Amino acid sequence: MTRLRERRWFPLVWLIPAALVLLALLVLAARWLRETPGWLDFAASFPGTTELPADTPVGFPAWLGWQHFLNSFFLLFIVRSALLIRGRQRPPAFVTRRNDGLIRTKGAPRRLSVHVWWHLVVDTVWVLNGVVYVVLLFATGQWVRVVPLGWDVIPNAVTAGVHYLSLDWPAHEGWVHYNALQLLSYFATVFLAGPLALLTGLRLSPVWKHEWRVNRLLTESLARSLHFAVLVYFIAFTIVHVGLVLTTGALRNLNTMYAGRNDDSWIGALVFAGSLVVMLVAWVVLRVPVQKKIALLGGTVR
Ligand code: HEM
Ligand code: HEM
Repeated sequence: MTRLRERRWFPLVWLIPAALVLLALLVLAARWLRETPGWLDFAASFPGTTELPADTPVGFPAWLGWQHFLNSFFLLFIVRSALLIRGRQRPPAFVTRRNDGLIRTKGAPRRLSVHVWWHLVVDTVWVLNGVVYVVLLFATGQWVRVVPLGWDVIPNAVTAGVHYLSLDWPAHEGWVHYNALQLLSYFATVFLAGPLALLTGLRLSPVWKHEWRVNRLLTESLARSLHFAVLVYFIAFTIVHVGLVLTTGALRNLNTMYAGRNDDSWIGALVFAGSLVVMLVAWVVLRVPVQKKIALLGGTVR
């Protein structure tokens, strides 16, 4: 039995050193590439950052810092409830909405596992937060920092990518503009992953009607796979994103997003630490017993 288990794990154990060797080879290749004359010409034309219009706002307004914090805060509980739903264990309680509150529907409300109900509650505030963010982005002109304005973003992202790979981080000036790879990944997160989570999540939720014709295209199993892929994306993005924030000038980066200032003081790091404490306390408090109390405000709990 143990030998069988060992044999099953054997190839997986080799994946880690194999990935490290591959990564080391890629780093060497990127370093070699950067010495070649062809690359020097390419990088002179596409330095890794696209031009922004002259009137682009500089710096991070306070609302952006709040919005960004609330996004991480809500995502924490979305991911926690998502993993509990996926765990497929018998839920500790079920919630049925009373049809006499703010939300009233023609059909009778469906009984939901407390995890799905909580997931939907946090999703609602997360989506509202996202909508406010996008409206403010466009109202203040900040959108040009996170939306590609031309195809030259692709070759510029190649330059930035080769710089990252050679472990010599590309020029980084988040206060003024993002490099092309940051821009593409923030764009994908806000304008592709977010809406895809919403669309596929609604498809799996009670608001979606079985008789809609689009269901032949967006089947439940396709929606479930895409919804799960979004989870994997958000987790991978967050690991790489926070990893780079902390390794490319942590104090300055944390200052820009968490304190709205562009210097190397410790203020942003302290605010960030405070935000982690808030998340930790909420993680401990907002467990099933408290969720049940909240559910009782608008429904029955069994
Ligand atoms: C909690 C840990 C996090 C930290 C410390 C952090 C830090 C930062 C910092 C410093 C910036 C400015 C970028 C720069 O100058 O390079 C930024 C931007 C951004 N972050 Fe995070 N982040 C965190 C979590 C997340 C999560 C979970 C998401 C989404 C899944 C996210 C999405 C974004 C986006 C979309 C931007 C660009 C925002 C804009 O300029 O409009 N971040 N983050
Ligand atoms: C944007 C609004 C969202 C809505 C309306 C939504 C809706 C739902 C619903 C209704 C379910 C339960 C499906 C069932 O009964 O089996 C669910 C499960 C799930 N959600 Fe969401 N969700 C949203 C956002 C997210 C986000 C942002 C993530 C990832 C970060 C996520 C990850 C998951 C996962 C992994 C499951 C388990 C799916 C499975 O059983 O295979 N959801 N979601």
